[in-house]
Amino acid sequence: ADPDPLQDICIADLDAKISVNGFPCKPETEVTSDDFFFDLSEEGNLSNAFGRAVTEGNVHEFPGVNTQGISTNRVDLAVGGINPPHLHPRSSESSIVIRGTVLVGIITTDNVFYSKVVTAGMLFLIPRGLVHFQLNVGKENVLFFPSFNSQLPGTQFVHSSLFNTTPPIPNEVLTKTFLVGDEVINAIKAAITSAQ
Ligand code: GLV
Ligand code: MN
Repeated sequence: ADPDPLQDICIADLDAKISVNGFPCKPETEVTSDDFFFDLSEEGNLSNAFGRAVTEGNVHEFPGVNTQGISTNRVDLAVGGINPPHLHPRSSESSIVIRGTVLVGIITTDNVFYSKVVTAGMLFLIPRGLVHFQLNVGKENVLFFPSFNSQLPGTQFVHSSLFNTTPPIPNEVLTKTFLVGDEVINAIKAAITSAQ
């Protein structure tokens, strides 16, 4: 089988001298101890419409994970905050909850909905590619650290994928998909666009 892709898009340059899936390596003479460490100790900025902050530790932020098939995020949720439904096309997600009380939901391709309220010390597992969310249902901020079996899991938010693309998806697609009028689609588009 083909190797798993490590990037969203790779348009072939048929004249290139080298081709790689991921990134080339810097020379070993330039490697330092710092290349193997990454700081996720700071809470992210929770002042946004969703009350959530995802600090990513993928290969773009933490070059040390290149070719290792692994990476880790930090997620903070304010009280009532939500990490909206999203999926990772290239990775499963295994996450340890450090603080707070969080409703974790998973939706399968058969549209079965699994969920549980989890607290500090518990792990949750999101199978590769499935839509999932986390909602802070407690009285304090939530903190958890998701790990991925990919250096670049990719994250697609369902709401953004439909209502905040560049350029916009034609309204006709969305009115015919959701079986509602333009005014409903326009209201959702406006709300989501201003929330970014
Ligand atoms: C949480 O689900 C994350 O993908 O960071
Ligand atoms: Mn996730």
